[in-house]
Amino acid sequence: MEDKEIIAIKALDYVTDNSVIGLGTGSTANFFIKHLAKKIKNEQLNIKVVASSTVSEIEAIRNKLNLIGIDTLETLDLYVDGADEITNNLNVLKGRGYDLVKEKMLAQSADKFIIIADQSKRVAGIGENYPIPIEVLKSTWRLSKKILDKYGKGSLRKNAAGDAYAISSAGNYIFDYSFDAMPLRELHEKILTTPGVIETGIFYEITDCALIVDNGQIEVLSK
Ligand code: A5P
Repeated sequence: MEDKEIIAIKALDYVTDNSVIGLGTGSTANFFIKHLAKKIKNEQLNIKVVASSTVSEIEAIRNKLNLIGIDTLETLDLYVDGADEITNNLNVLKGRGYDLVKEKMLAQSADKFIIIADQSKRVAGIGENYPIPIEVLKSTWRLSKKILDKYGKGSLRKNAAGDAYAISSAGNYIFDYSFDAMPLRELHEKILTTPGVIETGIFYEITDCALIVDNGQIEVLSK
């Protein structure tokens, strides 16, 4: 079994009956959705799920989960998602998918937010392996860029075919930015206080627990 599947199965330890669970996006999250569905069926659990993206919505339907709309959600017991980067003090970078707003909404509103990842995602500092995704209003993206360019360099993300700009499910553009060195808290604040910015892929101090796997060996990082 591959590491991503091993760690997705480990996350089932945190699933309780009569709860609402948020489903993350990506290949690791897809393994979690598959095994959650098996657990619900085998143990006849009463669990509702909410999707963080169109991809996780499709996976939830395919696995016959009891899917509810994010627009009806008032509380969330657990959110389980993958990551692009994770530091030892549980700061996380996400957003290779386009649904930054929904992912962060679920992560921050959940009673418990768990990251599931393999060792390749571990970094000493956020931004080490990937640029920082930033979701911005379409109409004013040029002005947002002018402000963000004071701190780094970036451009609009292209779609998978490379023939148009990527658009989030909320209808916004996504920048990918590399910033000058500065403390993460300061960077996070500078991005989020830029007019037109809707959300960033920096998940700063909101992760409760990270389950990391390295060649089958599991490590649990907690707050
Ligand atoms: C979604 O926006 C991303 O943050 C994914 O959660 C992240 O890329 C992890 O993907 P994998 O589980 O496929 O590595």
